This record gives sequence, structure tokens and C-alpha cells, in this order.
Amino acid sequence: MADRPAQRIMAGMRLLLLCALVCLSGAAEPSLDRAFAGRFAIGMALGARESADPAVLELAARHISAATPENIMKPGPLQPREGEFAFAAADAFVELCSARGWAVYGHTLTWHIQVPPWMFAGPDGAPASRDLVLARQRAHIAAVVGRYAGRIRAWDVVNEALADGKGSEDLRDSPWSRACGWDFIPNAFRSAAAADPRAQLLYNDYNIESGAKRERALRLVARLRAEGCRVDGIGIQGHWTLDHPPVAEIEAGIRAFAAAGLAVHITELDISVLPRMAAGGDLLAQDATGADPYRAGLPDAVQERLARRYAEIFACFVRNAVAIERVTFWGAHDGASWLNDWPVKGRTDHALLFDRALRAKPAFAAVLAEAAR
Ligand code: G3I
Repeated sequence: MADRPAQRIMAGMRLLLLCALVCLSGAAEPSLDRAFAGRFAIGMALGARESADPAVLELAARHISAATPENIMKPGPLQPREGEFAFAAADAFVELCSARGWAVYGHTLTWHIQVPPWMFAGPDGAPASRDLVLARQRAHIAAVVGRYAGRIRAWDVVNEALADGKGSEDLRDSPWSRACGWDFIPNAFRSAAAADPRAQLLYNDYNIESGAKRERALRLVARLRAEGCRVDGIGIQGHWTLDHPPVAEIEAGIRAFAAAGLAVHITELDISVLPRMAAGGDLLAQDATGADPYRAGLPDAVQERLARRYAEIFACFVRNAVAIERVTFWGAHDGASWLNDWPVKGRTDHALLFDRALRAKPAFAAVLAEAAR
């Protein structure tokens, strides 16, 4: 039995050879979405810049059958002032996807970030009442979901409402929970279900694949269903790192949500190669400083580590494909990743399958190899 270091060297050589073949063949690399067809769809989040970049759209057209608007369907961009909707960018995104046959995943109807301040403002500067906030939430969701009824595959109805850490409170402290307690969550799901009975309704969050937060997510879904709300699926965001969380935790989380009768969506996959203190994707958790070792590029050894990490994660997805509807990368390429500015602004991360020049990285070949197993 060859020892592990030798095995890993051989695996690394095979991987780099495969990547070399893919990259040097000159032909466009094989399609990710077609490689995983029959198991789960492959998607990408596209920001405003990427949605207008022909080179990025050509890359996406090769590899995806689903797309998520990175920001333009969040409450703030869509309704910056009460009663004043800005639908042009979202309309264009839905048309762009429709023209390419891409399923659209709506993101997101309720979140504590990029929510317009007026949502919680009452008369003469006092906080709005619980009932007023709930009525505004219903009106927002009815207008947005109603406008795109029949054209959105699934909505992230509520995003990141759960607390992190080990406290007794399930809900995170947010303007929503302070104004309405639990009630803003069923209010969102009921409003979305009424506005588009065909769209799948998801709860979306980070770090719910494991630990206390997984249990909180299961309780949240069970409580919604006990209150008569339709919850079709769970969005496991997947903002992971080279070492965390262990694949066994990811697999156990996928299986726990599937056992609860939820379609599993991997909604925001990226794997940061940079050191960080904050886990998951809590935008409010910023680090003031942080090492930025790969500004000039990613060393081969780290490319290989990233490739192995993506491979073990996709091997897990393939093992559990019956439970997984889609895997969406949170960005088309490394230059478009939010991780270049989180948790430390202005760093150079290398978290996706394509580099800043839109070239396939070794991680691409590693993911493709998992489809061939
Ligand atoms: O559009 C405005 C622009 O008009 C303004 O000039 C500029 C400067 O302030 O800001 C622009 O808005 C920015 C927006 O991205 C669009 O570029 C916001 O400031 C910025 O905070 C926002 O960041 C996004 C973040 O969510 C907050 O909405 C990231 O791109 C996006 O990748 C990130 O994605 C989130 C998911 O929605 C939920 N899960 C976690 C994930 C990562 O944080």
C-alpha cells in the first residue's frame, strides 16, 4: 500500500496533468453543468458588472444552467423608497437568463443587510410598529414576487435570520427581530407563497451545515411548517475555507435537511484560501487586518490544496446528489468575489474555479473529475 505522501503526490500530478490537458487543449473547457447533468444543476451568482461583461457571460454560458443576481434583487436596490420600485436591473437580469435558458434563483426577499431604512421608520422618527413593518414586508414581497411570478425557480425568502454561536436565542438580533420578533419569518413565507405558488420557497443561511446552527435551522423550518407555511428547501450557502468545515459535517448537514423533507440548495459556494477569524459569511463580522499572502498569484501548492478541497466537497455532493437540486458558485471568477473585500477590505482571494483572467484553475479539473466518477 503506497504511503499517503506518495499517494498525494501522485494525485497531485494526475490533477495537474488533467488540468494541463484541459487548459492547453485550446478548446473551451468541458461544461460543468453538462458534466453534472442528471445529478444537480450548476449555477453562478452574477453581479451587475459580470452581467454586462460578454467574456463573463460566455464563460457562464459554457458552465451553468442557473443564475442568481448577486445584489439587484435585494430589498434596498428594488425599493429604495417606500412605494418607489427600481425594477429595471432585475427585469434585465431575468430577460438575460431567459434568453439563455438559465433558471433564475431569486435572492433575497428579507435580509438585515441592504434593507432600506424606511422599512423600520415610523412617524416622526420613532421606530415603526410591528404591524407597520409586517405590512410593508408583505407589500414588498407581493410586488416583487408577483412581478416575476412563473419566472423564478426558487426564492431565498428569508436570508440569515438565525443567530450564530451557542446562545439560547435562535434568532439573530436584527431590525426585523427587534420590530417583529419571530413573526417576520412566517409573514415572508406566506406572502411569497401567495404571490407565486410555483416558486420554490427556501430559507437561506451560512454555517447551517453543522453544529448548533444546523439545529436552529431545522427548528425554524419545523416551526414554519407547524404554522402552516410552505417551506420547500434549504439554502446552505457554502462560504467555506480550505480546512473548515470538515466534509463529514457538510455531508451530515445535507442528510439532516434531506431527512426533514427539504430540497437542498448549495446557494453561495466559494472556498477562501486566505486566513480569517470570522467563520461563515456574516458580513457584519469584519476583521480590521488580515494576511494577504497571494496578491501576486496563488502558488501551485495552494492551487493543489484548493483543488483537493473542491474535489472532496464535490465528491460529497455527488454521493448526495439525490438530495441536492443545484450548486451555485458565489461569483463567476476570482476577480468578482466578495471575498476580496471580506472580512478584510482590499485583499486578493482565489476562491472560485476560474481565475481573474477567466482561465480554469486546477480546482476546475478536480471538480470535473468528480463528475466522471
Ligand atoms: O450599488 C451600490 C453603489 O451604488 C454604491 O456606489 C456602492 C458604494 O457604496 O455600493 C453599491 O452597493 C454594494 C453592492 O454590493 C453592489 O456592488 C454594497 O455597498 C455592498 O455592500 C454589496 O456587497 C454585497 C453583499 O452581499 C451585501 O449585499 C456583495 O457584493 C455580495 O457578494 C454579498 O453577498 C452575500 C449574500 O447576498 C448573502 N450571503 C452572504 C453573501 C456574502 O456576504
